[in-house]
Amino acid sequence: MQLTVGIITISDRASAGEYVDLGGPALKETAQKEGWQVLCEAVVPDEAARIQETIRSFSQQGCGLILTTGGTGIADRDVTPEAIRAIMRVELPGFGEVMRAESMKITPNAILSRSLAAIVDLSLVIALPGKPSGAVECLGFVVGAIPHAVALAQRTPTSC
Ligand code: MTE
Repeated sequence: MQLTVGIITISDRASAGEYVDLGGPALKETAQKEGWQVLCEAVVPDEAARIQETIRSFSQQGCGLILTTGGTGIADRDVTPEAIRAIMRVELPGFGEVMRAESMKITPNAILSRSLAAIVDLSLVIALPGKPSGAVECLGFVVGAIPHAVALAQRTPTSC
């Protein structure tokens, strides 16, 4: 099964053009190395409604996996976890647990990320930290579970 991906960079400053988005391209490169097809990409501000409508639109366009980067921390504008939880069917706590536990071996600041994974409509959504290297690291920690999780999210027959 060809895994199809949407990538959303969530950042006020990147969406305003105040700096170049590096997280989205870093995740795109990682996804392509996995052999996945990147269907959709967007840069949106830290606003729940924009995050939610983009996730739903990417899901409708056929992205089985939606990766977000940014807004998982504790700054005033960090709303990514709340935005996703408001539209998810179920959360998959293991993803956040593993991403934080493994990242703590790299930086003590990993504990500040509220990264998570959830099922929204027929897509697996994984919210990764905003730092490009952190996003790629976290994706690497959970990549092994992604194909099966996406197949289940899309209700495709699959064996464990
Ligand atoms: N996880 C990994 N693997 N590598 C990192 O560099 N940065 C941390 C953390 N998780 C980091 C990481 C930092 S400094 C913060 S503040 C939080 O993610 C939240 O980042 P965000 O608000 O940009 O999503």
